[in-house]
Amino acid sequence: MRCREDELNRFGEELGRALRAPAVIGLSGELGTGKTTLVQAICRGLGARALATSPTYALVHHYDAADAAVYHVDCYRLTVPDQARDLGFDDMVREGAIVLIEWPERAGPWAPPLDRHFQLSYGEEPDARELGEIR
Ligand SMILES: Nc1ncnc2c1ncn2[C@@H]1O[C@H](COP(=O)(O)OP(=O)(O)OP(=O)(O)O)[C@@H](O)[C@H]1O
Ligand SMILES: [Mg+2]
Repeated sequence: MRCREDELNRFGEELGRALRAPAVIGLSGELGTGKTTLVQAICRGLGARALATSPTYALVHHYDAADAAVYHVDCYRLTVPDQARDLGFDDMVREGAIVLIEWPERAGPWAPPLDRHFQLSYGEEPDARELGEIR
């Protein structure tokens, strides 16, 4: 689906409103295609409140929603998948949280199974993006 930024925001907010824990969502796509924009929209839809940014070089952001913990993990800066071992994915899943993972492929086998996996790519116009779901 082709979307402008406001459409991507609306999609994310609706997704967040409908999302129930536990859930793991992956977001893939080149730099600047809107993964963080989509994560932030999902968090707004969840009514998530920012709590803390983990000192693990800010790869993990922790939020609190009405009925669940929410984690936003950005794996972009991992150079090898083993660096994801200590990010705490196991604990997040055990806690029954909502986990939003940018660049999940960079975490290799350390990424938990994704319930949904979205892919963003550049569209023909500079302010358009293609949003798809990998199934
Ligand atoms: N249709 C669109 N959807 C999303 N973002 C758009 C769109 N059009 C323009 N933009 C701009 O593109 C940028 C997307 O940045 P964002 O940080 O969300 O991307 P990202 O995929 O998380 O990048 P990174 O891989 O660096 O983390 C923002 O500056 C946003 O304003
Ligand atoms: Mg990002």
